[in-house]
Amino acid sequence: MISKNTIDQVFETARVEEVLGDFVQLKKSGSNFKGLSPFTDERSPSFMVSPVKQIWKDFSSGKGGNVVAFLMEHEHFTYPEAIKYLAKKYNIEIEETEQSDEQKQQADERESMYLVSEFANQYFQNILLKSEQGKAIGLSYFKERGFTDETIKKFQLGYCLDEWDAFTSEAIRKGYKLEYLEKTGLSIVKGEKQFDRFKGRVMFPIHSMSGRVLGFGGRILTNDKKAAKYLNSPESELYHKSKVLYGIYYAKQAIAKEDNCYLVEGYTDVIQLHQNGIENVVSSSGTSLTSEQIRLINRLTTNITVLYDGDAAGIRASIRGIDLILEQGMNVKVCVFPDGEDPDSFARKNSQADLQNYLNENAKDFIEFKASLLYEDAKNDPVKRANLIQDMVSSISKIPNQIQQEVYIQECSRIMDISESVLFSTLSQILAKAGKPVSKQSQTTKPLEVVRDTETTKVKVDELFELERKIISLLLLYGTVEEEFEDMVWKENKNGDLVLEPEIQKAKVFEKIYLDLQEDEIAFANDDFRKLYLLLVAKLNEKGNLELDVIMNEIEPELSSLVTTILMEEEQYVLHDWERMEIMVKTKDKSVARLVNETILALRRFLITQKIDELSKKINDSEEEDPRKRLEDIMDYQSLKRILSNRLNRVM
Ligand code: CTP
Ligand code: MN
Repeated sequence: MISKNTIDQVFETARVEEVLGDFVQLKKSGSNFKGLSPFTDERSPSFMVSPVKQIWKDFSSGKGGNVVAFLMEHEHFTYPEAIKYLAKKYNIEIEETEQSDEQKQQADERESMYLVSEFANQYFQNILLKSEQGKAIGLSYFKERGFTDETIKKFQLGYCLDEWDAFTSEAIRKGYKLEYLEKTGLSIVKGEKQFDRFKGRVMFPIHSMSGRVLGFGGRILTNDKKAAKYLNSPESELYHKSKVLYGIYYAKQAIAKEDNCYLVEGYTDVIQLHQNGIENVVSSSGTSLTSEQIRLINRLTTNITVLYDGDAAGIRASIRGIDLILEQGMNVKVCVFPDGEDPDSFARKNSQADLQNYLNENAKDFIEFKASLLYEDAKNDPVKRANLIQDMVSSISKIPNQIQQEVYIQECSRIMDISESVLFSTLSQILAKAGKPVSKQSQTTKPLEVVRDTETTKVKVDELFELERKIISLLLLYGTVEEEFEDMVWKENKNGDLVLEPEIQKAKVFEKIYLDLQEDEIAFANDDFRKLYLLLVAKLNEKGNLELDVIMNEIEPELSSLVTTILMEEEQYVLHDWERMEIMVKTKDKSVARLVNETILALRRFLITQKIDELSKKINDSEEEDPRKRLEDIMDYQSLKRILSNRLNRVM
């Protein structure tokens, strides 16, 4: 584990504008920098970096956060990978926390295996490009397949000499230990003798998401019927075949950008598609798709398009994958190639535009795909038709999201020409059998009512949400600003009676907010806002200021993205002048004090209205023991609401 010390040092040293500047062209704009979003294709800049706040915000995709969040988002690093990257950039020595001997040994072992794999990768490439045999056999094979020099270089393709131990003995000569050569599976040890596992094969290195070599695939070049056409590295500390996807390192950027991932069968499909301009493509190479592999993709997009040959085996393979993808909550489409073609051959024969067109026009969602597969066959056969419908609904039942389930039920109903209510009841049968919760929707035959219900409650919740968010934003933007607030305080008048009178009091914004909310015992409804509120008030109270950069690094990622969004909202107006004119003017001509008062009053009024509704409902429910008392309460609240409304009108 990286020590807290190192992490702190990294955060202290790293400058968001410097780090992001390596990925995005940034131009100074006022106190900020702006540039084109690296996450979308856009022509006018909506990507902002604030050196003061040490955060960034991409207004076209909504993403934002601190420097580590950027690396995780853009480079798809894990947290430790991002810290290591920054440490390297700023020459900070990484201090690891004390590891047990066993942990140390394991880490050393993995590191040694990485080194051996990287050596092998360089060696195989060298042999392919420089040795006589490599050029004559390996390189000419790749050329025959239509791979360009550039492609061969990019994918680091190689060749392993057709000799018993050429690679192994070279590695040992270079000082690599036989132990690790064996553990990575590159060498096979039999008694005193050692052999190259990949003897006489062309080599495809398999990279991790961050580009380290985990293992290899090797294709045989002879027509030896006894030997496997493709051979992969065996399972090891480094290479877990169910957890890697071939091509993910080269595809991650494009997958995120296109918000879609093409899934193909093998190495050559990935490479050929890349060469023909489609870069958001990966393959599960040689094994059937696993849920771990799907989760890797899920870090980048929620959309997968499965590309398989049109032959029966290809279609069967794609059907197997569909339910697995649906189970992960992802959207899946399937595109089948013409009979006898696979993505590799099709990409080779067609221009980039034709290929892209074919994919766009033939990618069907899984319901349509299943229907098209069997429909002709099942059309006039009621039994087959029923089986097909059952099969579709069974796939739908795998989707974790109920709203999405409903959408697909509707589509299935349309395509198969069968009523939704029948499909819903089939769905609830399947769900019940699998022991999964059955949605209200699938039990009822009048699905629309439920939807309407949730929609009205949503409107109410949103008002509260906006008000709570406004309070957080006031704390973030103006927390330490001292303002003059008009407060109603009890005073004695000439006759000696106590009356409420306005009085001007000086206070900091956060003090005013805190005291007012505390007086009414108002707690935030939204969990995130509540957490943030407590944190911000505590910081302000303790330190007198917010130290935003410290806070950003302390809080959970969701909260930090929330804070970023709020902080950058004012910056956004700087981007578009028209927006600035409309919005800046609006906020500028109101004093901060007024904004604060207005927000607190509106929140109180909202909560009181809610209280009144609640009480009225209780009376109507007739379970009330003392309706008169309740009514009095209501009237009290109503008069309070009137007072608040009056005051609110006065401030506004
Ligand atoms: N594949 C594999 N293991 C096999 C066969 C195939 O991993 N035993 C994968 C490979 O990744 C390959 C893809 O499936 O890229 C397509 O298979 P295939 O067309 O048989 O391989 P090619 O190398 O294209 O062979 P051919 O030239 O005969 O088409
Ligand atoms: Mn092939």
